[in-house]
Amino acid sequence: MKQISIFLPILILAAAACSRPSVSTTGSTPEVEARVSRLLSQMTLAEKIGQMNQISVGGSVSDYAEAVRNGQVGSILNEVDPEKINAFQRLAVEESRLGIPLLVGRDVIHGFHTVFPIPLGLASTFDPALVEKGARIAALEATAQGVRWTFSPMLDIARDPRWGRIAEGSGEDTFLDARMGEAMVRGYQGEVLDTTSMAACIKHFVGYGAAEGGRDYNSTFLTERQLRNVYLPPFEAAVKAGAMTLMTSFNDNDGVPSTGNAFVLDEVLRREWGFDGLVVTDWNSMGEMIVHGFGTDRKDVAEKAVKAGVDMDMMTYGFVSHLEELVRSGAVREADVDRAVRNILRVKVLLGLFEHPYVDVEAAKAVQYAPAHLEAARTAAQESAVLLANDGTLPLREGLRILVTGPLADAPHDQLGTWAFDGEKNHTITPLAALRDRFPGQVTYVPGLRYSREHRDRFDDVTAAARRSDVVLAFLGEEAILSGEAHSLADLNLKGSQSDLLAALHSTGKPVVAVVMAGRPLTVERDLPHCNALLYSFHPGTMGGPALADLLSGDVNPSGKTPVTFLRTVGQAPLYYNHNRTGRPYNRETMLDDIGLEAGQTSLGNTSYYLDYGAYPLFPFGYGLSYTEFTYSDIALDKEIYGPEETLDISLTLRNTGSRDGTEVVQVYVRDLVGSVTRPVRELKHFERVPLKAGESRPLRIRIPVRELAFWGLDGTWKVEPGDFQLWVAGDSASGEPVSFKVN
Ligand code: NOJ
Repeated sequence: MKQISIFLPILILAAAACSRPSVSTTGSTPEVEARVSRLLSQMTLAEKIGQMNQISVGGSVSDYAEAVRNGQVGSILNEVDPEKINAFQRLAVEESRLGIPLLVGRDVIHGFHTVFPIPLGLASTFDPALVEKGARIAALEATAQGVRWTFSPMLDIARDPRWGRIAEGSGEDTFLDARMGEAMVRGYQGEVLDTTSMAACIKHFVGYGAAEGGRDYNSTFLTERQLRNVYLPPFEAAVKAGAMTLMTSFNDNDGVPSTGNAFVLDEVLRREWGFDGLVVTDWNSMGEMIVHGFGTDRKDVAEKAVKAGVDMDMMTYGFVSHLEELVRSGAVREADVDRAVRNILRVKVLLGLFEHPYVDVEAAKAVQYAPAHLEAARTAAQESAVLLANDGTLPLREGLRILVTGPLADAPHDQLGTWAFDGEKNHTITPLAALRDRFPGQVTYVPGLRYSREHRDRFDDVTAAARRSDVVLAFLGEEAILSGEAHSLADLNLKGSQSDLLAALHSTGKPVVAVVMAGRPLTVERDLPHCNALLYSFHPGTMGGPALADLLSGDVNPSGKTPVTFLRTVGQAPLYYNHNRTGRPYNRETMLDDIGLEAGQTSLGNTSYYLDYGAYPLFPFGYGLSYTEFTYSDIALDKEIYGPEETLDISLTLRNTGSRDGTEVVQVYVRDLVGSVTRPVRELKHFERVPLKAGESRPLRIRIPVRELAFWGLDGTWKVEPGDFQLWVAGDSASGEPVSFKVN
């Protein structure tokens, strides 16, 4: 194996002195920088450009051997077989001139082998510590097999559930998204960097979730203020948490594709935030700039991308094909190439890849699906399920005859959700299996529908079985393939004949519990009258079955809250809780059926709402029921007027007034009443999970620094503007009474 130590110390010092970033967001040190410089000084231009090339590998290692040996590849993705990864690393480390190891990337999005709930489900836990633990487990499993870089977390704010990729993020709220993103970064990379550290890749930078009409890959038109106030903060938080890499997005924002957007990549990311990690494109997003009509050919877009601040090209082959020529002609400065290579080598050095390029294939097996991993996945699935409706049918009483039905009751592949490449369905425990285990001898299973899109006219077999049972559990939703990348939908009702199945079950007069597994908030309003309880579990992952059995049986009390607004009908999209206040805020006025014949123009209310659906969603952001009840009282602030550097000190009493132990997600929302620009009607500023025993009452103190109320105002600066504010402490974004305070 070639050793780095052969390089000349004199070069190290010279190069290090001119390259070290003043403060490193990735945790780089002068020693790391010196090592990077030493290496860089040994590289030919072609070798440098090779580092900037990432390729997807499939098939046999020998197909790529020559390119790796010649130093034309800096990173590979989509190989997870540890033997093959070792073989790739051997080519790079032992057979290439400089022995630089490969960075091995993979989409490890919500678990590697042990699959956790989809990220939208993880967000509904409002439990960053648990999410961090899940990411750590994903890193332990993936790094054991040689994967040292995951393309996660996805930090795209998504306010439109038609967008299939809403499944991959934390929903509609900036604050929640930021907390989840930081947690994932910490989990993937670990407290200290070692061989179990998997570099996080925050994506997609930026605005991708605002795709017009929820159609994937579509254009966005976000103003700088929207970017600064809503879309950028989660990325900044993740950079501060030490995220080592970032991925550009597919969309063009106001006409500029992200992969060629120097404003966001250079000005904001590098200069303002000081990011010294690696910027990779999304898959062929450099090449897609030609399709966008933003560049003439691959050479042109390669130039635009590197100049905008891209370091590594995923799958366009733009840099390896044209960068050398661009540098030789003077169109691109070699300094730009050096910058990119430095960012790449820094990550490789920090990850310890030079010292530990190989994995122990046998040891890797023991790590996968470890009991502690499965247990954490089960807890995550328990916490991620949101109880949306319940007339007391849940939790199930003991001794009932239970009919289990529906296309998701026994769908081990589909309950894993989108982006679960490495999850294996033979390790998944379905609700059917778990319920049979929890209620031995009490469960009858009649699927009703084989998959979510199936159409059927009659359900005689299921309704007959329902009549012979005491309660019906209907597992409905979406197959995994209906959400995720490139899976946008224009209609968000349950697909196929699922609503008919539910209605048929309801017509038997038996209590019906609907459990919905989906990648997005579906529009379930029409189904609510046909079920006595509705538990929304998103796609819950490997241990979804046992977790749902725990919740349905009452062994565990539901505590998830909606991380996104649930619409009544798709026509309301986009509808999100933290919208700006309009000049004509809704107050319930004339609805469609209230309109008289030949009504005059002025009779219709003149506020912001739909005549047919009003202004409100089905369920607001932050909403979720429990088998117990919580009350909030004595909510008070320590002062009436705060300085901008002070801290709000909020006190309250939270009571569990029911007869079961439970956990409440306490949420704090703030509204800035008058600003230099209009401000959201509410914004989440704090949340915490509070477990309380039945009947227990607990005083809580919550502290929020006033600087957290800052925003990007009319003068283009980030600050807290003095004035009047309101604050709510409540169990969701639509509840509570406001408390007033001032900032001077
Ligand atoms: C395209 C997706 O947009 C991105 O999220 C993913 O990480 C890459 N493909 C690599 O698979």
